[in-house]
Amino acid sequence: MNTNRLSKTIETALNIQMTKEAHASQIYLAYAAWAGNQGFAGIANFLFKHAHEERNHMMKILEYILKRGAEVDVTAVPAPKENPVSLFKCFEKIFEHEVDNTKAVYKVAKLSHEEEDWATWNFMQWFVNEQVEEETLAMNLLDKMKIAGGEKMSSNALYSFDRDMEKTSGEVEAAQDVTTVNP
Ligand SMILES: [Fe+2]
Ligand SMILES: [Fe+2]
Repeated sequence: MNTNRLSKTIETALNIQMTKEAHASQIYLAYAAWAGNQGFAGIANFLFKHAHEERNHMMKILEYILKRGAEVDVTAVPAPKENPVSLFKCFEKIFEHEVDNTKAVYKVAKLSHEEEDWATWNFMQWFVNEQVEEETLAMNLLDKMKIAGGEKMSSNALYSFDRDMEKTSGEVEAAQDVTTVNP
């Protein structure tokens, strides 16, 4: 008796999305290391936490695939591309990446809708909401940087921004305590 509750299409789509979350985690990790190297401890801390959060998203999908009796396919994760050339570019890339990921999440949600796989559709709504949060966060940070001069931010502005990130990373503090049940 076949106990796999996911269609082949959904199983594949979820596995691809799982790897995408792992890829997102690697990107945040690379940018965090880059920011740390530049001396931006607050920003590095924020990005390290976010890398952790993305890994939890990966785990959340992995656990769902298992729960539905389907097969998890752990593959190689693409390496992040080159380091950003500035902090402003770093956050621009982060925003672009989040939008990209939102599109990927929508694809899986759409497939599940087409197949009337309401369990997966319901599961994907968590990611739809999460992407709204992440896009908003990236958008707000970019706005702050734009006000402070964007690409031409002075060393003073960069210093304050980094210090602010250290303080406000309380808002992503939860990332440290997250579980796969509550990423
Ligand atoms: Fe994610
Ligand atoms: Fe994200």
